[in-house]
Amino acid sequence: MKIKSVAAYEILASGGYPTVEARVELESGFVGITSVPYGASAGSHEASVLMDGDQARYNGQGMLRVVKTIQETIAPLVIGLDAADQRALDETMITADGTPNKSQFGGNAILAVSLAAAQAEAAAQKKPFYKHIAETFQTGVDFSNLPSPMVVVIEGGKHADDTTDLQEFCISAVGDGSAAEKVRWAMEAYHALKKVLKANKLSTNVGNEGAFAPNGIPSNEAPFQYILEAIKNAGYVAGKDLSISIDAAASEFYHDGKYDLKVEGRQLTAAELMAYYESWLQKYPIATIEDMLAEDDWDNWVMMKQLADKYQVELIGDDLTVTNQERLQKAIDLNAISAILIKLNQIGTLTETVDCCMLARKHGLMTTTSHRGGGETNDAAMVDLAVAVGSRFIKVGPTRGERVSKYNRLLAIERELRS
Ligand code: PGA
Ligand code: ZN
Repeated sequence: MKIKSVAAYEILASGGYPTVEARVELESGFVGITSVPYGASAGSHEASVLMDGDQARYNGQGMLRVVKTIQETIAPLVIGLDAADQRALDETMITADGTPNKSQFGGNAILAVSLAAAQAEAAAQKKPFYKHIAETFQTGVDFSNLPSPMVVVIEGGKHADDTTDLQEFCISAVGDGSAAEKVRWAMEAYHALKKVLKANKLSTNVGNEGAFAPNGIPSNEAPFQYILEAIKNAGYVAGKDLSISIDAAASEFYHDGKYDLKVEGRQLTAAELMAYYESWLQKYPIATIEDMLAEDDWDNWVMMKQLADKYQVELIGDDLTVTNQERLQKAIDLNAISAILIKLNQIGTLTETVDCCMLARKHGLMTTTSHRGGGETNDAAMVDLAVAVGSRFIKVGPTRGERVSKYNRLLAIERELRS
């Protein structure tokens, strides 16, 4: 069905700064509305997030330019195109933008229109969004296994002040059960963690993603102990029902060739850092590790992959691969990862995101679809994407509306599929 009109608005994202929402209407009257998120610790190879730069509004972080680009430049390009041909629609925008990282229009502008058009077409076809994505791109996913929750429970790095150098410690559901059960297990362990932190005299205030951000935590290793205790106190078996996932987001503490662990007052080489990591892999029930090294430290990633294989842990690329097929292909060729984090706004169109997931799957790599730290919205399209491409996990924080909307979408999809 043909696109009749495209509109865009400046709305607020979870951090209190603006993001963009797009509305696409088809000639048949069906409408799709989507808002797009952005990261707090975005990788430098991601698609651009264009902001106004006008210091008189929102400290330069307004979205009026992006709104204008959508309404005045992108709209005339896509009006009249068939929303059922998502690939052609996305390619039209990519070509017109003409830059490698979508810096002309903004990845945020392009993604908002890409997703809103897809949502409108799904509505026209009276299909849930995940089914529309799966059918449009023939992903071959049969929905018999839904993604499991990877719940961020402790956060530090750029997501909170005065806490761990590592950005995220997560509880991942690895046992057998429905999505609803797995969400419950992980959340119960999260609540148990609050008591453990309090018992250790740590604050239970939360960070960007709604996870605990305990000030004055003694080391980057301490969260493992707290989480293990929480899993046990909640009545689950660590390594069987619930495991630990971490995201170092190491680019954020990599300076001048060294990894700077402020909490521990130590500056480590990659080899020293990996030796430290290995001590964790020996001791703790860890399911996945992510961005353990900086985004361009390719040689050491290859070593890290060997270490991950030794302990049968999935090594996820995020800032390394940025949902970008070229960077993913390089990581595959070098044998640098076994899994990839997927974020729609890292690349900026639905088509490229799904293609990246399919490339990963073709090479036997697991995908985990993720929220963003800095500016999330209540939009839950990432969950439909995760279901459509058969992601193993969705990584999302445990509290705050823009986070729980993702889990609630997963529960709704499960109810719909299993009823
Ligand atoms: P970001 O962090 O969205 O702030 O970049 C999330 C992540 O690194 O996984
Ligand atoms: Zn990450």
